[in-house]
Amino acid sequence: MDNLSLHIPVLLNEVVEAINPQDGKTYVDGTFGAGGYSKEVLNKANCKLIAIDRDPNVKKSVDAMGKAFGERFEFVAGRFGDMKSCLSSIGQNKVDGIMLDIGVSSMQIDEAERGFSFRFDGPLDMRMSASGETAADIVNNMPEKDLADLIYKYGEEKNSRRIAKAIVARRAEKPFETTKELKEIIHSVSKKPVNGIDSATRTFQALRIAVNDELGELERALSASQELLNDGGILAVVTFHSLEDRIVKNFFKDKCGLGPRPSRYLPAAIEETPLFEGKNKAVTAKEEEIKLNPRARSAKLRYAIRKYGVREAGALNHGEV
Ligand SMILES: C[S@@+](CC[C@H](N)C(=O)[O-])C[C@H]1O[C@@H](n2cnc3c(N)ncnc32)[C@H](O)[C@@H]1O
Repeated sequence: MDNLSLHIPVLLNEVVEAINPQDGKTYVDGTFGAGGYSKEVLNKANCKLIAIDRDPNVKKSVDAMGKAFGERFEFVAGRFGDMKSCLSSIGQNKVDGIMLDIGVSSMQIDEAERGFSFRFDGPLDMRMSASGETAADIVNNMPEKDLADLIYKYGEEKNSRRIAKAIVARRAEKPFETTKELKEIIHSVSKKPVNGIDSATRTFQALRIAVNDELGELERALSASQELLNDGGILAVVTFHSLEDRIVKNFFKDKCGLGPRPSRYLPAAIEETPLFEGKNKAVTAKEEEIKLNPRARSAKLRYAIRKYGVREAGALNHGEV
């Protein structure tokens, strides 16, 4: 663990600027990792920071933060998709900002034992938390058609049918155990890198998303944020690929009232009141950051401010709609 490269936070200044930490307020870092965002927020204001992570290996960084910031820092082990219950387990029902930095950390990728990367040989695992179905369980048991669909949907891999077929033929002889075995089978049917990207990349991404239910987690967290944020609270989300960004973009488009307007024949009272305010424009990393940290190249930050509308001000409560 000590040899692992420490995670360099991506779009750190931009995220903290968006969150705009204030004294006396409470913020959530739903993807604690090595604590880069959490630390910066706590340094910016005399505020409280509640961190969540599903990976038991973050303990060392959690302990260091506890020592540095005392009671201003609190950690809850869990998934950000369950943010509401994570927060209520420590008596917190409302917060003033939520940050999410979706995906895997450098520590997770660089640890061969975790099985996230085909750059190292390791068990075909890919679980961020230490429990549940592994990537090996999926490739060894899923019916061929479902496997092809999964690789196509989550990996956006055009060769998905051919790869799934090769996986199923290979597992009939011997079940997959390692990242190297899987990489070799993918290379056997689609060897050439596409645009400089290794042909195993998309399949590995698809399996990782499925193992950790990454898109479902994101959708649940976005939805929960509406209820958890105080009026004026900020939701800031950093994503690393188009599947995630599409979910965040559509969420903000809808919730900021930037989508197509409902029919003008609908009574005004039943038009949806926007729940967030923001331009829904993606913030990307500057060249200097990308030079220092190539991982930042694909990062996109979107953020918006929670606004309490007419409905929440009481219209619904009084049965007037
Ligand atoms: C990209 S890293 C975050 C790095 C962090 N911003 C920093 O500055 O160190 C993502 C972290 O989020 C965690 N994570 C990913 N999905 C999660 C989920 N659904 N619930 C809780 N933690 C999650 C991972 O375990 C990982 O530690």
